[in-house]
Amino acid sequence: MNKLAITSLVRHMSLRQLQVFEAIARHSSFTRAAEELHLTQPTVSAQIKNLTGTVGLPLFEQIGKKIHVTEAGRALQKTCREVFDALSRFEMETADMKGLKHGHLRLAVVTTAKYFVPRALGPFCQRYPGVDVALKVTNRERVLERLMENEDDLYIFGQPPAEIDVEAIPFLRNPLVVIAARDHPLANKRRIPIERIAQEAFLVREPGSGTRLATERRFAEFGLKIPVKMELGSNEAIKQGVAGGLGLSVLSHHTLFMEEQGGLLRVLNVEGFPIERHWYMVYPKGKQLSVVARTFLDYMMTEGKRIAETSANVKSRLRRSRTRGKTERTGRSPTVSRKRRTAR
Ligand code: PGA
Repeated sequence: MNKLAITSLVRHMSLRQLQVFEAIARHSSFTRAAEELHLTQPTVSAQIKNLTGTVGLPLFEQIGKKIHVTEAGRALQKTCREVFDALSRFEMETADMKGLKHGHLRLAVVTTAKYFVPRALGPFCQRYPGVDVALKVTNRERVLERLMENEDDLYIFGQPPAEIDVEAIPFLRNPLVVIAARDHPLANKRRIPIERIAQEAFLVREPGSGTRLATERRFAEFGLKIPVKMELGSNEAIKQGVAGGLGLSVLSHHTLFMEEQGGLLRVLNVEGFPIERHWYMVYPKGKQLSVVARTFLDYMMTEGKRIAETSANVKSRLRRSRTRGKTERTGRSPTVSRKRRTAR
């Protein structure tokens, strides 16, 4: 774009118009954008009319009752994010110069991370009361889309995405375990061959879930397929189904704190499990993190990680569930055998 065109755009476009446009595109609705920005509908329509005139191409199209962003609109949406990102970085840098930490922190995390992220956020928000946090919790596929669109400051994944060049920093263990109802016939068995559980019915997360992907891969490594009986869109629904005797499942050990404590569910001792994974803090390579995002990243590597570890207490619970089978069968004190059967 030449200098003249930039000058003409800058002369006619206002940040307010971009803000209105961005809100409409995000909500696919003029009404909701007007509500969010505390503007009247005619004001919102007038801003978009002027902006469309400046761009010289339609930004939205209406098909039936739905508003869709046009190709030019999508390009403008990307530009808006870059402009707002740069401005928010500037705001935070100057806040930092003044010795303050305030601004926005946009986080997008995979569903399963909700078992520890909010708890780790508590002390962070107390320390930096000037920071507004927006936390988006959704499955891996959706978080990946958000990352590609550069919608947030930081992301938490159970496995770094291969689809895009990223910085991925591991900060916490994330073991995926096989679970069963407490009275399941396999509950007290040790070293259960994976082929044996492949004869059971399984409850699995929806396609697009990172947990499901990792489980499918582990079964495939043994030349097996998950015997899917039912697909459920949340970890909570799966736990209820497993506790109710609908079948087995594989979930992150982070999700099980309450149910294990309450004795409703048992972690099975199965060959090839747990699937040893980590939680990663992720952002696109080359992205300039805001001061607040950098502060949060550092916090998660130290204090946040400790809080998450303690709240889930995964390490000691996992050790307990590995030894439980032996204790119950022999009545002797537990000793952990780290030797694993060779996969057949
Ligand atoms: P999910 O991701 O919540 O989408 O299953 C979790 C993970 O990747 O470990």
